[in-house]
Amino acid sequence: MTDAASPDDRTPCPLPGPGDPTESGHRPHLPVTDATRAVRPATLAITAGRPHASPDAPLNEPVAFASAYHAGGPIAYARDGNPSWAALEDAIGTLEGGSALAFASGMAAIAAVLDTLPLGARVVAPLDGYSGTRVLLRDAGAPGRWEPVLVDVTDTAAVLDAADGAALVWLESPTNPLNGVVDLPAVITGAHALGAAVAVDNTYATPLLQRPLELGADVVVHSVTKLLAGHSDVVLGATVTRDDARCEAMREHRTFYGAIPGPMEAYLALRGIRTLAVRLDRAQANASELAARLATHPDVSRVRYPGLPDDPGAARAAAQMAGPGSMLAFEVRGGAAAAEAVAKATRLIVHATSLGGIESTMERRARWSEDVGIPASLLRMSVGCEDVEDLWADLDRALRVGGAAGAGDA
Ligand SMILES: Cc1ncc(COP(=O)(O)O)c(C=O)c1O
Repeated sequence: MTDAASPDDRTPCPLPGPGDPTESGHRPHLPVTDATRAVRPATLAITAGRPHASPDAPLNEPVAFASAYHAGGPIAYARDGNPSWAALEDAIGTLEGGSALAFASGMAAIAAVLDTLPLGARVVAPLDGYSGTRVLLRDAGAPGRWEPVLVDVTDTAAVLDAADGAALVWLESPTNPLNGVVDLPAVITGAHALGAAVAVDNTYATPLLQRPLELGADVVVHSVTKLLAGHSDVVLGATVTRDDARCEAMREHRTFYGAIPGPMEAYLALRGIRTLAVRLDRAQANASELAARLATHPDVSRVRYPGLPDDPGAARAAAQMAGPGSMLAFEVRGGAAAAEAVAKATRLIVHATSLGGIESTMERRARWSEDVGIPASLLRMSVGCEDVEDLWADLDRALRVGGAAGAGDA
């Protein structure tokens, strides 16, 4: 895996420097200096968010279990802030190049972005994208809260058509689950020209492969639950922005709606980030190898992975990402029954939803969202860090089981 930007062409991030806590209680950890900025993202994943170095100081921010703080400082009560969150926020903010806020889940972070829009705001959002965002916008908000317009976000003209009069364009790239790649520079520039802000869910790529704020996006969202935390053992989310007013509005949202992370979860997520680069390197190499083998497998009709040279997203991914990532999508011959049989037949690859863990998981996505154009036979695989030959042996065997189950089906 290569880094997207050289140390010299990365934009300095506007995190607070060393010294006093900010008004909002954000307590800076290791100062973001020219020296810390001069290292590459994989190194920042290891160094960012550590306590100040001083004799006897711990190397890691301890888990702060506290619901109240001694009076006189910026944090009075547990919903205002927590040192364990602050360390995680420093790390995520440094990696993305903005100021991060940690939330109780990715959905809580998404809700904070959307809830701080004006009433009735038009929001352009992906048809092919994480279903929770779509359902929140379309069905779960109060009537009239937002005016969602769902589009194919890989179609730049369609996005910009819909963005006229919109408050926000919500993007995912690559998209979950079809692995579509958005032309981020073109959509961000075009949306801004129309007066719309742009949010990017960067969960699939992580800041090691793609940094949307550097491409001009206004806010980045993460399900930290996935690759950042990386071990299928925590639920957490984050927002990152360079816009102080937006950051403050989302911080207030977190304080008053109470979608705060637990300190133990924040600690675990930060511990996960320390190994993100090595996990992602391995998982991405595995995904690339599996994609190439699946592309010639007799029981597979289509592979969607932007690392394949003939994938429709390959050129965009090469231009704006440091690598194609660790998420695969492929369609099985024999329809839904065959795909379901493949998902159930694996022994090593876990039949489960979610993604980004160190272990490989796989599921038939259309079992959740039949109505948005996800092919019934599409399997989404979150590729983990196992030995690739073991993964291939498991997949190949399961595909043959699925092939037999789907024989005669559509
Ligand atoms: C791309 C993406 N964004 C956001 C979310 C929501 O995150 P969480 O489950 O942490 O609330 C998910 C969850 O699957 C996701 O896949």
